[in-house]
Amino acid sequence: MLSLNRADFPKDFMFGAATSSYQIEGHSFGGAGLTHWDSFAATPGNVTRAENGYRACDHYHRFEDDLDLVAAAGFDSYRFSTSWARVLPEGRGAPNPEGLDFYDRLTDAMLERGLKPCATLYHWELPQPLADLGGWRNRDIAGWFADFTEVIMGRIGDRMYSVAPINEPWCVTWLSHFLGHHAPGMRDIRATARSMHHVMLAHGRAIQAMRGLGISKLGAVFNFEWAQPVNVSPEAVAAADLYDAIYNRFFLSGVFKGEYPVSVVEGLGVHLPKGWRDDFDVITTPVDWCGLNYYTRKVIAPCEGPWPAHTEAEGPLPKTQMGWEIYPEGLYKFLKRTADEYTGELPLYVTENGMASNDKIVDGSCFDPSRIDYIDAHLQRVKQAADEGVPVKGYFLWSLMDNYEWALGYEKRFGLVHVDFDSLKRTPKASYEAIRAALSG
Ligand code: FCB
Repeated sequence: MLSLNRADFPKDFMFGAATSSYQIEGHSFGGAGLTHWDSFAATPGNVTRAENGYRACDHYHRFEDDLDLVAAAGFDSYRFSTSWARVLPEGRGAPNPEGLDFYDRLTDAMLERGLKPCATLYHWELPQPLADLGGWRNRDIAGWFADFTEVIMGRIGDRMYSVAPINEPWCVTWLSHFLGHHAPGMRDIRATARSMHHVMLAHGRAIQAMRGLGISKLGAVFNFEWAQPVNVSPEAVAAADLYDAIYNRFFLSGVFKGEYPVSVVEGLGVHLPKGWRDDFDVITTPVDWCGLNYYTRKVIAPCEGPWPAHTEAEGPLPKTQMGWEIYPEGLYKFLKRTADEYTGELPLYVTENGMASNDKIVDGSCFDPSRIDYIDAHLQRVKQAADEGVPVKGYFLWSLMDNYEWALGYEKRFGLVHVDFDSLKRTPKASYEAIRAALSG
């Protein structure tokens, strides 16, 4: 059981479940084009067992049943994403009618069940033909993305409750072009700097395109990790500060302040595209809300070597199946800091929060008490922020069901619903039942 329920939150506070297209749909169905995740996964060594999203949860064919599960849990809304390569197999040009039809049917199926559709336009599966042209390194991507935005939102935008262009700019850029952990698997500082700026520009262009279509409730979704210095030395504090600036402040500052943190520009400056300062009028195009994805903190230590000269150290807190420390306090701190320093009165949403555990089916049911504790502890911090006047208006769980956890394949289970990846059978876990009780109680 959760210790909180709906009545503990402000009236109209929204509860939702989140997923993303490549992680659940099954990308080999319905005429979707090749994406950079397909090539990344096919390259030995990148993904656990070289697993990919070809079939995933087969949500493409089972979405009605999956949405029944969302509705039956008592959720108000469903956060999903649209695959660029399903809609435009070449990334540009002729749309795939089957792809557009799919999102049309998905939208209507949400509305039929009384669920508010909360769309994300891009949750990481870049069409391969655009990756071949340089992907996020190429400034033209801002225009390609605005065109995709018009095509998909021209079809379903009239029925969306809310829309955000890009999920987690840090993952699209730093994780994928500097650390090389996600597609396209680059480790290159110049590619990193360019992609960081272009992702911001693409965000702004998409917001403008949607304003042009008359769509409202437009937002931005960022991910956050609390940066904890490994000790009290000035070097450790400075290392954690820089981690914080790169991870947590760069993209927020771009969208809400029209600038990038000085400490990041010091390291990336020579690699940023020429004239980058001139793009802030587009990047700061006003949004209506801000989404925070939050899972963990990192303990940061200084290290030898070139900028940014920091590394992660092992932390002492209990960890999830991902090896991520459980640190609910960080969610509270980010909600407060975001409102205080960046967004003021703008509504905030926790657009992702949840944990992976090694869940097993025993006698037909799936018992996941650690997930219930995790959700409970984080919801308490959300409530604390709301009680103190932070304008947090909703909370989405990652994720509705076990799915393709990117470079870690199908091994890390984040779902409220267990998925057997052989039979594709769905089994609601104990955490699903706990949520259902809390949302109806
Ligand atoms: C977030 C991603 C989501 C999932 C969770 C665990 O960074 O948005 O797709 O991988 O982490």
